[in-house]
Amino acid sequence: MFVDPSFAHDVRSYLQRTPRQLPSRYFYDELGPALFEAICRLPWYRITRSETALLDAHAAAVLAPLSRPIGLAELGCGSGEMLAIFATSAREPLSLVQLIDISPAALDMATYRLAAIGIRNVRTYLGTYEEGLRRASQDRHASGPLVVLFLGSNIGNFDPAGARELLVRIRTVLRPGDGLVLGTDLVKPERELLLAYDDPLGVTAAFNRNLLRRINDELGGNFALDGFSHRAVWNSSQRRVEAHLVSLRRQSVRVDAAHLDFTLQQDESIWTESSHKYEAAQVVEDGRLAGFGHAEQWIDREAGFALTRFTV
Ligand code: TRP
Repeated sequence: MFVDPSFAHDVRSYLQRTPRQLPSRYFYDELGPALFEAICRLPWYRITRSETALLDAHAAAVLAPLSRPIGLAELGCGSGEMLAIFATSAREPLSLVQLIDISPAALDMATYRLAAIGIRNVRTYLGTYEEGLRRASQDRHASGPLVVLFLGSNIGNFDPAGARELLVRIRTVLRPGDGLVLGTDLVKPERELLLAYDDPLGVTAAFNRNLLRRINDELGGNFALDGFSHRAVWNSSQRRVEAHLVSLRRQSVRVDAAHLDFTLQQDESIWTESSHKYEAAQVVEDGRLAGFGHAEQWIDREAGFALTRFTV
């Protein structure tokens, strides 16, 4: 059995925290991106549809202030659907498309999807946002601006301090004339938020539980998958939806490759993800604090989603 040492290390350290946690980046194995694709098509998860409509309607305006030819680099491209829509509606040749993702399966899907619409000047970077960003910026096309895409409200999976740090990191690798396009989900009524993260079909529950299945398969864990329920909680003071896996009974857990052995109490939870929600003005302010220049926003008020383009 191949064991990813950083996966084993993170599982060990996060499961021993109080409260117990798991880092959300490990959702995205072979199966995870396919389950997430399904989430994006659920009627209750509006982020993808709203962002798709904004990108489709405003791609040309988003790219308007930049010189040509443009190179695009997407952090966490997933299946490449957003990028394909953006590139199609922008209707112009791109000097280079750089795909950064933690999942080989996602990079494969995205590469196929782009090839299907005639985009073949693609380079892939397997790794975290940080590693990928560094490698992609070193490897950027020699001429023209670089536009970093950070979509799907993936920035919301960082806490506010982490999000600001990542914006600074992005700003640091960019040059005058470059840009950043950020998709952020906005604060909205609690019942809408909870349906988006706890759907009646149970797809989100499967996506969340898949993390335990992955630990069982890759690290020799013994999680009983039917011993956990998925729970989404709106934490209004922190403005985030939290995803948890709640133990339905007292159970002992072993993860061999992480040298871990502990007891979960009934109702004890493992906190797997936070999805922070923004006010539109806060996005602009965070970009300004990170050192970006001008910001322009396109907002879907109905779905509560903002697309923000920053220039450097
Ligand atoms: N980036 C996505 C989001 O915050 C990830 C996500 C969607 C997610 N649904 C989830 C993560 C459910 C954990 C559980 O919207």
